[in-house]
Amino acid sequence: MDFKKSVSLLVVLVVLVVGSEGGGISIYWGQNGNEGTLADTCAKGNFEYVIIAFLSSFGNNQKPMLNLAGHCDPYTAGSCTVLSSNITSCQRMGVKVLLSIGGGAGGYNLTSSQEATQLASYLWNNFLGGSSPSRPLGPSVLDGVDFDIEGGTSHHWDELAGALHGHSKGNKKKVYLTAAPQCPYPDAWIGGALQTGLFDCVWVQFYNNPPCQFSGGGVANLVGSWKVWTSSVPATKIFLGLPAAPAAAGAGFIPVADLKTKVLPAIKGSSKYGGVMLWSKYYDDQTGYSSAIKSHV
Ligand SMILES: *[C@@H]1O[C@H](CO)[C@@H](O)[C@H](O)[C@H]1NC(C)=O
Ligand SMILES: *[C@@H]1O[C@H](CO)[C@@H](O)[C@H](O)[C@H]1NC(C)=O
Repeated sequence: MDFKKSVSLLVVLVVLVVGSEGGGISIYWGQNGNEGTLADTCAKGNFEYVIIAFLSSFGNNQKPMLNLAGHCDPYTAGSCTVLSSNITSCQRMGVKVLLSIGGGAGGYNLTSSQEATQLASYLWNNFLGGSSPSRPLGPSVLDGVDFDIEGGTSHHWDELAGALHGHSKGNKKKVYLTAAPQCPYPDAWIGGALQTGLFDCVWVQFYNNPPCQFSGGGVANLVGSWKVWTSSVPATKIFLGLPAAPAAAGAGFIPVADLKTKVLPAIKGSSKYGGVMLWSKYYDDQTGYSSAIKSHV
């Protein structure tokens, strides 16, 4: 190999190594029947994590129930097991698939420590490495659980995280724990649970929250909040959570050009930076946001 070739090989290697230290994109899927299948979402090649939204009813003695909009009917036995092969197809492509509990519509809360450990067992047996005769998404084993708690009370989420972590200990496959708090710090519902240090990724919702979102071209509020999150929360990675289209949220959409030139350069230096979370696949299909930002994340 001549000198010129070695130099260009070295340049290629450096680019590859630096590139691989960038962030990833996580995206929510499940709240709109017109957003394509889960397998198609993963096959797009843009996403590191796809989060199935939501297990929307649980706690307060309710039977845990999924809501997946038009994708399938969780109240009809077997209707959502069609997702099983989609999940394994995603995992074969290297995409981690999580189940999000909670969501913006409410209808959940944990009323006791016992209910927290019972829900952890339910999740373990029905969606993770345990077993149950009635797994709603079939035999596939999800990669973890996402806490998108936006209502109810602040109680017992730390115990739920601890009990899920307990189930995953000794299991060959890691169970990821992630969360989607609001950007005002600390989060009103899961601020306490986040201090357990058990969460791998925290995708902070920097939208619908004027005090800490991007607004009028200014990054100061967002960057100030980002610094608080990255220095205060003992999670492995913090993600910038954003709407994938102006219509995906009440406020906080960041045009692609602003994200690339103003926002990402101001936050990527953090060792906790994990990438960008998007709400949601449906809106991403309308704007092409993930494809437009992928190489900059
Ligand atoms: C994914 O699920 C759809 C139904 O929503 C099904 O038609 C399709 O065959 C599945 N694809 C894979 C790869 O599992
Ligand atoms: C807990 O959830 C139940 C069921 O959705 C609801 O009726 C109740 O008001 C909730 N309690 C609190 C304190 O949010």
